[in-house]
Amino acid sequence: MAAAAQDNLIDRILDRLEHLLPAQRPVPLHEPQFQANAWEKVKDCLDSGWVSSVGAYVDAFEQGLADYTGITHAVATVNGTAALHSCLLLAGVRPDDEVLMPTLTFVGTANPVAAMGAVPHFVDSAPDTLGVDAVALSDHLERISEQRDGCCFNTRTGRPIRALIVVHVLGHIADMAALRAVADRHNLKLIEDAAEALGSFRDDRHAGHWGDLTALSFNGNKIITTGGGGAVLTQDAELARQAKHLTTTAKLPHPWAFEHDQVAFNYRLPNLNAALGVAQLEQLDQLVDAKRRLAAAYRHAFDPMNELTWFDEPGGCRSNYWLNLLLLPDRLHRDGLLEAAQQRGLLLRPFWTPLHRLPMYNPMPRAELQTAEALFECGVCLPSSAGLIETAEPLG
Ligand SMILES: Cc1ncc(COP(=O)(O)O)c(C=O)c1O
Repeated sequence: MAAAAQDNLIDRILDRLEHLLPAQRPVPLHEPQFQANAWEKVKDCLDSGWVSSVGAYVDAFEQGLADYTGITHAVATVNGTAALHSCLLLAGVRPDDEVLMPTLTFVGTANPVAAMGAVPHFVDSAPDTLGVDAVALSDHLERISEQRDGCCFNTRTGRPIRALIVVHVLGHIADMAALRAVADRHNLKLIEDAAEALGSFRDDRHAGHWGDLTALSFNGNKIITTGGGGAVLTQDAELARQAKHLTTTAKLPHPWAFEHDQVAFNYRLPNLNAALGVAQLEQLDQLVDAKRRLAAAYRHAFDPMNELTWFDEPGGCRSNYWLNLLLLPDRLHRDGLLEAAQQRGLLLRPFWTPLHRLPMYNPMPRAELQTAEALFECGVCLPSSAGLIETAEPLG
């Protein structure tokens, strides 16, 4: 496309963004929203003196997560990475195992896999969900794997493929029925990385309903935050018991003795953070609602522009629209828009660099990754804080 046409498209996008967003600058990509209940509960926690890894707020936060998601057990952790690490250990992933995951995800999906001596194995994304492409994954596994003694092996590397991590990218739930079927056919444990998907549903089921284990994150940029925090979700009471044990240094109950029965971690969410979590959970429906209204305003602004794709929730999904996504015609437009927006104080962001392009993950096994590459080249995330909608007006 000629430079003038390119500039014209970028200008038209910026005009629409400026019309829709509040006047104050900068407009960050995602900001938390706190109400009076946050101050009340954090103060109450401080007054109680129970600020560390046990306390009533941890129990209440876990119960609140279980009630909201409909998944029977929630174990709160210090962050989403710790939650994923715990899921991997509980799924039986060991050093030198391979773990399938999308290349188009935040680096926090791969880091706990690599940290335990296992090997990320990158697969492609589906254009309609942004999550792992079930058909491409199935074809890839037919080509490169075989079953031996009930275990999936990579015939090219000789390593066991133990698990599949599916990521619900930007809050849109992947095609979980198909992915569950692929995992079952190949004897893989299924982990949902739902760090971005609290408040997202598919076929009326909350994220986490398909996996053996699921990880959430409550980092400051997520739909609700505990400052830093995460959780393991599972329907399996025994896995939940093990998750609690693993995240509390595997300490055996005793009035005074320090007895521990396995290598484990101090991964429990402090009560102080959980107090903020309990307050934020009370706001969750309101936040999802505001973010969906913001998404509707963006859709209204950008759907009519034929040169762009506005990314709408996949069929059957009710997404939290954690981050809103525009797909531009090519990388030149993407970079031009990012630069021009930054100059105007609109903090748009590209997708994460696909993990197989990062130096530490470049040598890892991978499938064909065309769709993930194309999404990365063209994708721009728009400011998506729930608070933006109070001032946002859909274009007339
Ligand atoms: C997809 C994904 N996985 C994992 C993580 C890691 O979570 P945390 O930052 O809480 O460790 C995040 C977010 O930060 C994420 O977006």
